[in-house]
Amino acid sequence: MAKKYQLPKLKKDPQTIVVDHPFVTDSLTHLRDQFTDVAKFRRHSDQLCRLLFAEAIRGLDFIDVDVTTPLEVTIEAKKLKDEVIIVPVLRSGLAMLFAAIDFLPKSKVGFVGLERDEKTAIAHEYYYKMPKIRANSVVIVTDPMLATGGTLLHLLRKISSQKPKELRVVSVISAPEGIALIRKEFPHVKIFTAAIDECLNDVKYIVPGLGDYGDRYFGTSV
Ligand code: URA
Repeated sequence: MAKKYQLPKLKKDPQTIVVDHPFVTDSLTHLRDQFTDVAKFRRHSDQLCRLLFAEAIRGLDFIDVDVTTPLEVTIEAKKLKDEVIIVPVLRSGLAMLFAAIDFLPKSKVGFVGLERDEKTAIAHEYYYKMPKIRANSVVIVTDPMLATGGTLLHLLRKISSQKPKELRVVSVISAPEGIALIRKEFPHVKIFTAAIDECLNDVKYIVPGLGDYGDRYFGTSV
């Protein structure tokens, strides 16, 4: 019989936001289930990621605009002002990009390709294509499984050196080890996640987790 885990009680970290919504709870259960097929996995991943992004854009700046409704009445309304740049951590972060650009259709997308050398465990960057990061850019990095946090840390260092207005992270499941690594250098980066799981196993998978997100989303597990 599979081992049953209790999710950990963690120290308060106001910058790590565990998004609490009935659809998040339900979709996460489907994602965790080993019997969820690729079509269902994609549907629940897309739904859950939309809800994570809905939270992740909280607090961004708005500008006032005049809008005339079909009743020919003009009101002063608000429009998102910040320029949002989405940076998916390849490959699995791409699975979250569809939901992000659905919500933020004007957002720009940056790519950083990193590969870990199996012998040295050092990340080697093989691709970099980033839109210009400006003083009003809010950069949202997507990484569905914040496991060791090594790749994410490399990305955050690289992007923060270009001085965006703000850096945020959206992740489906986070491991305490990954959050702790990020917090050492980036205590103020907001991390939006659906769950913080127990730990990493000896091959650095999140436990209980949901397996390999990229394989399950892109159908490459079999
Ligand atoms: N990446 C995954 O896809 N799953 C994990 O559990 C850890 C890293």
